[in-house]
Amino acid sequence: MEKGLKWSCVAVVVAFLAMVDVSVSVPFIMLHGIIAGCSDNTNANFTLLLHNLSGSPGFCVEIGNGVFTSMFMPLAHQAEIACEKVKQMKELSKGYNIVARSQGNLVARGLIEFCDGGPPVYNYISLAGPHAGISFIPMCNSSPYCKKFDEIIKRGLYSDFAQDHLAPSGYFKIPTDMTKYLESSKYLPRLNNGSPNQRNSTYKKRFASLHNLVLVKVWSLHNHDYFSTCICCFPSSPFCFALQFQDDQVIVPNESTWFGFYPDGDLENVLPA
Ligand SMILES: *[C@@H]1O[C@H](CO)[C@@H](O)[C@H](O)[C@H]1NC(C)=O
Ligand SMILES: *[C@@H]1O[C@H](CO)[C@@H](O)[C@H](O)[C@H]1NC(C)=O
Ligand SMILES: *[C@@H]1O[C@H](CO)[C@@H](O)[C@H](O)[C@H]1NC(C)=O
Ligand SMILES: *[C@@H]1O[C@H](CO)[C@@H](O)[C@H](O)[C@H]1NC(C)=O
Repeated sequence: MEKGLKWSCVAVVVAFLAMVDVSVSVPFIMLHGIIAGCSDNTNANFTLLLHNLSGSPGFCVEIGNGVFTSMFMPLAHQAEIACEKVKQMKELSKGYNIVARSQGNLVARGLIEFCDGGPPVYNYISLAGPHAGISFIPMCNSSPYCKKFDEIIKRGLYSDFAQDHLAPSGYFKIPTDMTKYLESSKYLPRLNNGSPNQRNSTYKKRFASLHNLVLVKVWSLHNHDYFSTCICCFPSSPFCFALQFQDDQVIVPNESTWFGFYPDGDLENVLPA
């Protein structure tokens, strides 16, 4: 049973990668999550697996050196680097699809929304992306960087220092402190057109120009097999499909992966997108 579900979800991802135009194989890029790199077994295998199954060329796009960069480089800068990289990849010049995991989704949306002059993005498949923010910092594992990570957090997540030196601070959002979030968060308010004086209709237009958007809910940090706990897949509109995975421990609230979040001032009830 579990195995069947696992493959049904892989099949959905693969179907989207393969669907744009049967006569050309549209390439895809993969953007990994935090505390990870393209050369990790997990990410290398994942990219290869999707390539093997879809028949489309696939590239894991690395930003900086992977693990360290994913933790400590602000997301605006990560998105700029990704933008320059995709512009230089000849393979992508006619357009491409994106598959992103976890924090990589915030880089992915930065690419879609902010990358002036970049090649078009057709389909975007988001695996466990904290799109509406998180109210709980992802658990740091036992890597040597964790100490540094914790030190920065102690200075306050909306401080300039944290905003400039810790990637997750860019999508940290405390619903009971929205004023500070809108004033001091340097990434998510801009990405989501959430700040009244920062809105830009170009971002919206670019995001809405995707052919398909697939949003997959969260997975368990302790089980890096993304597909073992998939519980349902349902199409909701021609534009947007949402899938759900069962075991959520990292993204709080998990509804953020479908653009849901706590209303302002409330840390209990979650509103849908
Ligand atoms: C990657 O794939 C290889 C071959 O299929 C397998 O032996 C290995 O265990 C996989 N590694 C991970 C981390 O999934
Ligand atoms: C992908 O295909 C290659 C070549 O057939 C094979 O060696 C590799 O194990 C496959 N990897 C995965 C993760 O499916
Ligand atoms: C909105 O974003 C586009 C694309 O990056 C940019 O060219 C334009 O200047 C921005 N508009 C405003 C009002 O900031
Ligand atoms: C997601 O979080 C909600 C609380 O916001 C919880 O009730 C629900 O069980 C979580 N979903 C999953 C699939 O764990």
